[in-house]
Amino acid sequence: MRIVMTGATSGIGLAAAKTLIAMPDVSLIIGVRQPSALPVALAGRVKALPLDLADLASVDHFADEAIALGPIDVLIGNAGIQLNAPQRSAQGFELTFATNHLAHYLLARRVADHISPSGRIILTSSGTHDPAEETGIPAPRHANAERLAYPERDPELDKAAGVAGRRAYSTSKLCNLMTIRELAHRRSDRPDLTILAFDPGFVPGTGLARSYGPLINWLFRNVLPVVIRGSHVSTAPLSGRALAALATDPVYAGGRGLYWSMEKGRAIERKPSTLARDDAACAALWNDSAALIGLAA
Ligand SMILES: NC(=O)c1ccc[n+]([C@@H]2O[C@H](COP(=O)([O-])OP(=O)(O)OC[C@H]3O[C@@H](n4cnc5c(N)ncnc54)[C@H](OP(=O)(O)O)[C@@H]3O)[C@@H](O)[C@H]2O)c1
Repeated sequence: MRIVMTGATSGIGLAAAKTLIAMPDVSLIIGVRQPSALPVALAGRVKALPLDLADLASVDHFADEAIALGPIDVLIGNAGIQLNAPQRSAQGFELTFATNHLAHYLLARRVADHISPSGRIILTSSGTHDPAEETGIPAPRHANAERLAYPERDPELDKAAGVAGRRAYSTSKLCNLMTIRELAHRRSDRPDLTILAFDPGFVPGTGLARSYGPLINWLFRNVLPVVIRGSHVSTAPLSGRALAALATDPVYAGGRGLYWSMEKGRAIERKPSTLARDDAACAALWNDSAALIGLAA
């Protein structure tokens, strides 16, 4: 089974990658910023191709290289960032939206036609996409691609950079889920494909807080994993194993546009937020994302 994956070098993705390469029939191809500096657990056991999700040209090149290796059985789009200060991608888009959403949207579209029969496409979303979850991260207000790509055009933009950064994060995760729902809708020609979104729960201890500076990052890595409790709290090994199962376990085969979320240490199917279930909004996000990056809808 050939699996192509982003975000395999750290946190939840690294845990998933370790589970996957322990399976006898899995060949793992990962997209990484530094192919020469892989985590020890992966070195020599995966094929690492260069990929910087902050640059759509790099995403295109990665897609070409991954496709050239032969039919792909599973695509896992797991990489993600959360920022504390505004930054731009290589193409000038807001960096969180560009990295978490636009890059994975492009990758999924480039790779979809090269997924083998009964293959899978999985994107990592987050419970933060849903205002009803009250995760503590500011919830999305909309999924307007132009305003997300160019926040200065958003009349509702938060004044505080940290709040804007966290809302950009939750909104990008909403976009991941809406992309999965719309992809499932659009690919009625490929009913064999399994198309899923995954919420790993709240997983303190990963690298996700790295932009917040040394103190917050240290607390996130070392203190929160010990003190935080709740049914949505998970660990990288638990969520990584769940993600690997979504990619390989026959029990998940055939799911179309479903949202699996960690609850008490295991994945359960959950109803997406009201906005994520808005079919017109999902279609608009798809079309507007295509326009932003110069693809036909
Ligand atoms: N931790 C949580 O509580 C939580 C909750 C819900 C959802 N999630 C989601 O889970 C996923 C994994 O997050 P994590 O918590 O495991 O964080 P993490 O430890 O920071 O892992 C993020 C991964 O994304 C990769 N990445 C980031 N920017 C990239 C870029 N420009 N190009 C290529 N790769 C890039 C990183 O690669 P490098 O090694 O090069 O940095 C790393 O492998 C994310 O999608 C996140 O949104 C996390």
